[in-house]
Amino acid sequence: MNLIESLLSPAGRADPFPLYAEAHRLGPVLPITDSAFLVVGYAASNEVLRNPGFRIPTNPSSQPSLELMQRSILRANPPDHGRMRSLISQVFTPRRVAALQPAIEAAVDGLIDGLPAEVDFMDRFAFQLPVTVICELLGVPASERDRFRPLASDLTAALELTDTSDGSADAAARELGEYFAHLIRNPAADGLVSALVAARDAGDGRLSDEELLGNLILLLVAGFETTTDLLGNGLAILLDRPELTSTARSDPAAFVEEVLRYDSPVQLTTRVAHTEGLSAGGVPMPAGSDLILLLGAANRDPARFPRPDEFDPARTDNKPLSFGAGAHICLGNSLARLEGTIAFTRLVERYSSITAEGQAARRDRLVLRGYRTLPVRLTAAGC
Ligand code: HEM
Repeated sequence: MNLIESLLSPAGRADPFPLYAEAHRLGPVLPITDSAFLVVGYAASNEVLRNPGFRIPTNPSSQPSLELMQRSILRANPPDHGRMRSLISQVFTPRRVAALQPAIEAAVDGLIDGLPAEVDFMDRFAFQLPVTVICELLGVPASERDRFRPLASDLTAALELTDTSDGSADAAARELGEYFAHLIRNPAADGLVSALVAARDAGDGRLSDEELLGNLILLLVAGFETTTDLLGNGLAILLDRPELTSTARSDPAAFVEEVLRYDSPVQLTTRVAHTEGLSAGGVPMPAGSDLILLLGAANRDPARFPRPDEFDPARTDNKPLSFGAGAHICLGNSLARLEGTIAFTRLVERYSSITAEGQAARRDRLVLRGYRTLPVRLTAAGC
C-alpha cells in the first residue's frame, strides 16, 4: 500500500500521525505520479499556499453539493477570489468578531448551566457553541439551529478525497440552498446576511446571486464543523492528560493554538500548479500538477517543530498551518480562536474535573478530523 492509500484506509483515517512521521523521513514533497504530489513539509506547504501560481482546483462537478461550494470564496481563483475576499472581509470585520465576545461568553455559560453530570460533550457542547455563534453572526433564528448540524455534516462529507457520497450531500445542499434563499429575502436587520445582500444589491457586479448563496452556505459550514472539532479535539487531550488543565487555565490561548497544531480540525487542502516553472520544496512541478497539502503533517514537521508528536502548549513560535496561509487563509480564524479560548477558559474554571465516561468515537474522516461522540463526567468546581 502506498502512503496515500494508507492514509485513506480506515487505520490511516483513525490515526494518520505515524504515516505523517514516515512521510517526513522520505522528504517534504513526495511525488505520487509525474503530475501529482503530496506536500508534507511545513516550509513547502507554506510556500505553496503563499504562491499565487498555485491555485484552487476547479474541476466542474455534476454533484450539486460541490457545485455550490465552487461558487464560494473557498473555491474561487483570481480575479473572482480577490473581489469576494475584499467584500466579505469588509463585513466580517475584526470589530464584528470582537463584538461577539459577550455573546460567546453568555452562550458558553448557558450551555454549561444546562449540562448534566454525565454527557456527550460533542452533542451538548462542542456542536452547540459554534452553531449558536455562526447563526448569531448570520442572523439565523435560534429555533432553526438544530436543523443545521446534520445538513452541514452531510455537506462536508463531499469534501473528502474519496467518494463518500450516497446522495445525502446533494440533498443537504438543496435544503440549505432553499433555507438561505429564504433568509436572503428576509435578512435580520444588522446581520452579516443583510450586509452581503446590500453588496449584491449595489448592482456594481461585486457579488452575484449565486455567489451570495454559495458564500452564506460556506460560512455556515466552515464556521461550525471545524470549530466543533477544535473543541472536541482539545477536550479529548484534557481527558488523556488531566495535568494539562492548569495550562488550559493559565494560558487558554496557547492551549488552543497547540490543539490546532497537534490535532488540526482540517488535515488537508488541495492546489493545482497553474503556471509553468513552479516548484515546492525544491521539487519542480509541471503546470497542471495536482497537489495534496497535508496541513496536519506540516504541523508535525520535525524540521519546524521540535518534538512534533508531543503536545506542549509552552512551545514558542507556535504557528501551525491549521488555518492555511496566503490568499485563502481562513477568514474565521480569529472567531474560531476566540470561541476556543472562551470555551476552555470557562470549562476549566467551572469544573474541578472532567473525565472520560464511556467510549469516545471519532468520525471516520480524513479531511475534517474530529469526534462523533465524547462521553464525559463533569464535576463542578466547589463540589
Ligand atoms: C478557509 C480552517 C473556522 C470561514 C479556511 C482554510 C482552512 C480553514 C484550512 C483554507 C483552505 C485552503 O486554503 O484551501 C478552519 C479551521 C477552523 C475554521 C481549522 C476552526 C478551528 C472558520 C470559521 C469561519 C471560517 C469559524 C467563519 C465563520 C472560512 C472562510 C474561508 C476559510 C470563509 C475561505 C477563505 C478564502 O478562501 O479566502 N478555513 N476554519 N472558518 N474559512 Fe476557516
